[in-house]
Amino acid sequence: MASSFQTLPGFRDFYPEECAVRNHLFRLWRQAAAEFGFSEWDAPVLEPLELFTEKSGEEIRRQLFEFVDKGGRAVALRPEMTPSLARMVGAKAASLRRPIKWFSIGENYRYERMQKGRGRSFYQFNADILGEAGRAADAEIIALTARALELAGLKSQDVVVRLSDRTLWFEFLSSKVAPEAVGEVLAIIDKIEREPQEKILEKLSAHCADATALLADIRAFLQINSLEALEAFLNTLADKKESLSARLNDWRALLGRLNAMGYGDWVAVDFGIVRGLAYYTGFVFEVFERSGEGRALAGGGRYDNLVAKLGGADLPACGFGMGDITLRLSLEERGLLPQFLNAPDFYAVTSGDGATQEAALADASQLRRANLRVEYALKGAAFGKQLKAASQSGAPFALLYGESEIAQNAVRVKDLTTGKESLLPRDENLTAHLVAVRRVGLPKDPCHGHEH
Ligand code: HAM
Repeated sequence: MASSFQTLPGFRDFYPEECAVRNHLFRLWRQAAAEFGFSEWDAPVLEPLELFTEKSGEEIRRQLFEFVDKGGRAVALRPEMTPSLARMVGAKAASLRRPIKWFSIGENYRYERMQKGRGRSFYQFNADILGEAGRAADAEIIALTARALELAGLKSQDVVVRLSDRTLWFEFLSSKVAPEAVGEVLAIIDKIEREPQEKILEKLSAHCADATALLADIRAFLQINSLEALEAFLNTLADKKESLSARLNDWRALLGRLNAMGYGDWVAVDFGIVRGLAYYTGFVFEVFERSGEGRALAGGGRYDNLVAKLGGADLPACGFGMGDITLRLSLEERGLLPQFLNAPDFYAVTSGDGATQEAALADASQLRRANLRVEYALKGAAFGKQLKAASQSGAPFALLYGESEIAQNAVRVKDLTTGKESLLPRDENLTAHLVAVRRVGLPKDPCHGHEH
């Protein structure tokens, strides 16, 4: 019986601990977006099916949760935010102040093969800049990706932004396969690290006469791992010199800006990234663990034609999506998730249910009105038991109300980490004192208290 009431595979229940972790990630994402001046937006979870079948690319098409609604409409749960964003911005492009810098945090759904780091429902932080074609926007998007990870506690030694360029991939491949096949060949290359060579060759042979030669060329291109290597490689392609040297300047400008912002160390030139989504047109990137293990933490890039293709204005755009599942795994492995995300600031402990309890309730209520988080036992229990509950709650401080404290019209504040105590008068300054204690710890001045 029970099994029919479990979640669907790849879907998650969020018990309070998980919800606290989720909200912790949301807080970090919102903080990063705010620092960079992005405004939050959202869209429906259920969208017309064509929004995604037209624009997202083959892989996502196969993973759609789609059905026909009661009105006979073909609909799908959103697998990503970008098509909805393009529709919304396209519809109001004329009236939006440029550049348009928007972020969102929302749940997405993909019928993926079950594996570590992937779910069928996951949250994604998206940030996009629309209406700005220059490299400064790409740099800003990559810097924001890095900043979000940095805020979470990750360092450039932990993760790497693998930066590539679909413009150059298009240039490179268009002399080797038919222009309309380039997108599909890129989708094949996207899998090159994960699929056996025979399978790759078989797929490539649908697009060219000599798949082995094409694969060798592709592998040479994949070797490029620095600006210098890129420059040297492009010099060998004499025929297209001019457009290529302009592109090289774009690379220099982009990396120069990231260096200036202090994120140079986070980025590596890596043509192994081509992105599975069909709409990307320029710089593209994905973030991985330096160890190479696990699935991507984030991915994004430039998509200059999507808004126009969805019927809106001709708006250049770039952005990224960062998932909650891989980020959480990465933080957990490094012990970077705070232990007590739901901890109160103070836990009040009383020795009885008379005057001590009234004092505790009055003070707790004042502190709550000052936006501090306060808890206490809802059922009478021994003083020691309450104190234990205080420690288990993760509260940094307990407020102790015993007969002797009440007789002095005072409260004893106990630092639950150090065990240090301090007696504070229950006067009109108590709330302000406790707000300060929460911020900087117990007062050092012996006049304010004594240690036990
Ligand atoms: P994406 O590479 O498909 O790009 O997804 C971005 C990130 O979302 C991934 O790196 C991963 O962290 C997370 N993610 C994707 N699928 C799953 C899954 N099944 N389970 C867990 N996490 C997942 C996009 O979605 C683009 N729309 C991003 C973008 C925004 N490009 C421009 N603007």
